[in-house]
Amino acid sequence: MKLKNLRIGNLIARLPIIQGGMAVKVSTAPLAAAVANEGCIGLIAGSGMGPLELKEEIRKARELSDGILGVNIMVAISEFKELVKIAVQEGIDLIVAGAGFSRDLFTIGRENNIEIVPIVSSVKLAKISEKLGASAIVVEGKEAGGHLGTDQPLKTLLEDIVEAVKIPVIGAGGIVEGQDIAEVINLGAAGVQMGSRFVLSEECEVDYEFKKLYLEAKADSTVLIDSPVGLPGRALKNAFIENLNSEQVFTGKKCNYLCLKKCSRRFCIFKALREARLGNMEDGLVFAGEKVHLLNDILPVKQIIKNLVDQVSDL
Ligand SMILES: Cc1cc2nc3c(=O)[nH]c(=O)nc-3n(C[C@H](O)[C@H](O)[C@H](O)COP(=O)(O)O)c2cc1C
Repeated sequence: MKLKNLRIGNLIARLPIIQGGMAVKVSTAPLAAAVANEGCIGLIAGSGMGPLELKEEIRKARELSDGILGVNIMVAISEFKELVKIAVQEGIDLIVAGAGFSRDLFTIGRENNIEIVPIVSSVKLAKISEKLGASAIVVEGKEAGGHLGTDQPLKTLLEDIVEAVKIPVIGAGGIVEGQDIAEVINLGAAGVQMGSRFVLSEECEVDYEFKKLYLEAKADSTVLIDSPVGLPGRALKNAFIENLNSEQVFTGKKCNYLCLKKCSRRFCIFKALREARLGNMEDGLVFAGEKVHLLNDILPVKQIIKNLVDQVSDL
């Protein structure tokens, strides 16, 4: 099987692979640029960065690549609008938005010639997105790492959603090798979004302890947690998760960050994600997809993409 281009509005990526945005500086400029340089689409995660940091990160990525670069911003965060504004000012190619739904984003996209790609997990939201002017949608199944909007497997969702809309549908969740890409494309998807595979890249800037947890993962190592965002989140078991289960985690009522529009205050999600990124497994929340145990090497992005393309072409 040969992989085709991925067209999202006016953008054409040579390969139908998007590197998913990963919050709190898991996907930053070096990773997104390396992916874009291979003819795929690289996403910088804006969530967990301040507006100035995001601006710098976009500029850095542009210096490293003239490929297709986007941002992923969670609708649930307080700074959503400010971060979108910065991305627009910096002339980003596309905005991918999950963990909530923003109607205003489509107007901003139309007015500024930026492709808007919401992340959805239902036929209803897929249809609404198309009607509002989405250039494509990412359909994320329950296998995905990070916040989840469904308990349904990707394949079940795809079967219904590709029938329901005409815009390109991009499958995400549990895609780690060429065989997975082929299956999703055979179900009618125009492309895939992958997160976990790109964490285990040389360009991903997280601490080695974060990557080590990925490398050591077994088939039953991921768990679902109740995120303060109000959604379940898929993460790897570690000391932090044990503390969370035994309710030993700080549940302060006072908070100066106000990083989420609505927060359950069970624990501070941004602090937990930041600690993980820095390698502190006692206090760190490590998001990862359900198939992380099938990944066992840290590779340069170039090699990751080459392997995927070779695996697909052997099918
Ligand atoms: C560490 C990590 C952080 C993530 N952060 C975000 C995020 O900020 N926003 C978002 O929409 N998705 C986020 N995701 C989901 C990814 O963009 C992607 O859709 C998902 O990882 C796909 O599943 P996979 O890991 O099985 O490939 C995150 C995933 C991981 C593993």
